Amino acid sequence: MKKIYLFLSLILTMLILASCQLGSSPDNITITVFTERHYDTDQLLYDRFTELTGIKVNLIRDEADKLITRLQNEGSDTEADLLIIADAGRLGRAKAFDLFQPVTSSILEENVPLEYKDPENYWYGLTMRARVFVYHPDRVMASELSTYEDLTDSKWRGRIVTRTSTNIYNQSLMASMIAIMGEADAKTWADGIVKNFARDPQGNDRDQAKAVVSGVADLAIMNTYYIGRMLYSSDPFEVTVAETVRIFFPNQETTGTHINVSGMGVTKHSKNTENAIKLIEFLTSIEAQSSYAHENFEYPIHQDVTPHELLLSWGTFKKQEITLDLLGTHSAKAIMLLNEVGWK
Ligand code: FE2
Repeated sequence: MKKIYLFLSLILTMLILASCQLGSSPDNITITVFTERHYDTDQLLYDRFTELTGIKVNLIRDEADKLITRLQNEGSDTEADLLIIADAGRLGRAKAFDLFQPVTSSILEENVPLEYKDPENYWYGLTMRARVFVYHPDRVMASELSTYEDLTDSKWRGRIVTRTSTNIYNQSLMASMIAIMGEADAKTWADGIVKNFARDPQGNDRDQAKAVVSGVADLAIMNTYYIGRMLYSSDPFEVTVAETVRIFFPNQETTGTHINVSGMGVTKHSKNTENAIKLIEFLTSIEAQSSYAHENFEYPIHQDVTPHELLLSWGTFKKQEITLDLLGTHSAKAIMLLNEVGWK
């Protein structure tokens, strides 16, 4: 009888301890992040954030547009505290859909330069990339290269590749052209690019560089970081491709090279705003930015962090001077014009 009593009191004590533990882990020390990023670096940083703050991070990964639609559908019921997606055009879309809330913080003011954030503080940049020319040095001389506009010249007929207009990177490039030259001229520019395609747009950014090395085209329009990723790839062909091609930053004498960011914002219906802000502060800190710079071949947005040596070897470059929120503002118009000129 005594044994049964002891056994029951042991079980009771265990139950009380378990409930106390649950009680000491309230929801406000776990934040939920909707993200399209899926890199080992990112997970290590979330682990480090938990180690530093005690705040756990519940990650939900999916494609950016699906996460945006999910946030729209879930409304105030969402468990998401933070949305992390690539491209200022998409961040602008999420803002326009009323999915973010504005956030101010002296730490963020220090970490994120004005050029890499929403002017009304709805989203903050995480990493920066440029959309450049990647060319085959046997078929193109650097001295022949100048601007995005020059790619419409007849000398480039049948020599250019890039991905489809359903891709946000090209939509944002087009949005930047609208911001710089106006709708009519941007449409003429896009039409000229389409006329010079070596093939119908297809594949991802890496496939464009591969097409250049395979002789399908002479020049690709693509994002910088893919060259780094291919250079350190486990696929020998990707390494060969990255070692063969050269990079050119267009419009250095004029309007600058098109840049973009991946970025993040606190969701409008976050129940953990303070802790979500702490994560943005951490991800933009020197420690986290150094990690991004050395793993993903993107440019750090924190000014005190040095880019990867590969990026340093490309030198510094002049960036487009338009504010990144314009990529969101002109996004719908960009898609419409790209469709009108037959950019598949
Ligand atoms: Fe990408």
